[in-house]
Amino acid sequence: MITEAVRRLKNGDVVAFPTETVYGLGADATNNLAIQKIYAVKDRPSHHPLIVHLAAPMMLLANAKTTTDVLADAWLQIISPWVRDLPPAAMQLILAFWPGPLTLVLKKDKHVLDTITGGQSTVAIRSPSHPLAQELLAAFGEALVAPSANRFGKVSPTRAADVYAEFGNESEILVLDGGDCEFGIESTIVDLTASEGIRLLRPGMITPSSIYAKTGLHIDTFKSSEQETVSPRVSGSFKAHYAPNTPLQLYQTDKLNTSLNELDAQIAVQNHLRKLRIGLGVWESTANLPTVPSHIALSSVQLEIFTLPSDHLSFANSLYRTLRDLDLQNYDIILLPEPPAGEVWDGARDRLQRAAFGSGPSSANQASN
Ligand code: TXA
Ligand code: MG
Repeated sequence: MITEAVRRLKNGDVVAFPTETVYGLGADATNNLAIQKIYAVKDRPSHHPLIVHLAAPMMLLANAKTTTDVLADAWLQIISPWVRDLPPAAMQLILAFWPGPLTLVLKKDKHVLDTITGGQSTVAIRSPSHPLAQELLAAFGEALVAPSANRFGKVSPTRAADVYAEFGNESEILVLDGGDCEFGIESTIVDLTASEGIRLLRPGMITPSSIYAKTGLHIDTFKSSEQETVSPRVSGSFKAHYAPNTPLQLYQTDKLNTSLNELDAQIAVQNHLRKLRIGLGVWESTANLPTVPSHIALSSVQLEIFTLPSDHLSFANSLYRTLRDLDLQNYDIILLPEPPAGEVWDGARDRLQRAAFGSGPSSANQASN
């Protein structure tokens, strides 16, 4: 499979492969025509920049004993064709988190293709930790650009079957099957190009606190509403993204009964000929279980209740898979609890809010606003 994947990549074709976050749609990062195929397959607007995926140093993958200096030197050689001015903080982050789910935005080298960066002066890079991704990168011998392997604005894939489902018509796309993705949401993105400090562009499973704990570096976070104006080119910053076709609404756990009553009343006035089917997700931990509303008289909706993992790692890991599976249940509405406050939930909460905003049959239109 790897040999065939490499052959196709050399030929300028796209290949889907697993990473520890989500599946990516990879193409040769030095081949303009191959990169353009990604935009075409995804229906992605051409000014949305892509992440360059790099192989990790062999010594690291082989678990060979080495010094930090030697390792830093090895990373530098891998990165230097892509970036100029590597700030010391970038190397600290690389040594602490690579290979892994952290993407760095840095000033680009002049040879980096405009099709990757959308013509910007910066480039996003990361080295994924999934063994199959590393095997592919090593065998290919060149960097790969890889957006998530989904159509623009839709739910990202976290298993090979999702990629097939997404690109059914282009079934000639080769998909390397690496099982379920470990993290389940896209990498954390930080921008190191501003003089004022390091900024969080996309929350993920590597949080500002974990970065601070490991490196002592402070990461500036800012609200998504600000992000949209400051950084319109982070496509994940669209309010509508990661969206299922079934309308998705979020409720506050302590206000479930109120939300259900309101929804029931709204639907009642719409005069449907039947009760609407609501897929209602509740936290599985008994501590968080809402008073399941058996006593509530709902006249216009029928609830089908399922549980969601209440720890942040399992929740993120299964989030996209759950959204995809729920989309196949033909519910009229999906109702999910808002994740709790707290930084470890930021990534999942961010994705879920965008998914809710963009959900429904017309989500593709909203997403590309
Ligand atoms: O976990 C991930 O990062 C996955 C896997 C496949 O590696 N990839 C991924 O790619 O999420 P994509 O294309 O779905 O999202 C890439 C994000 C976009 O939001 C894009 O705008 C942002 O990275 N990005 C890329 N280059 C950038 C740049 N120079 N400045 C700011 N944002 C950039
Ligand atoms: Mg994506």
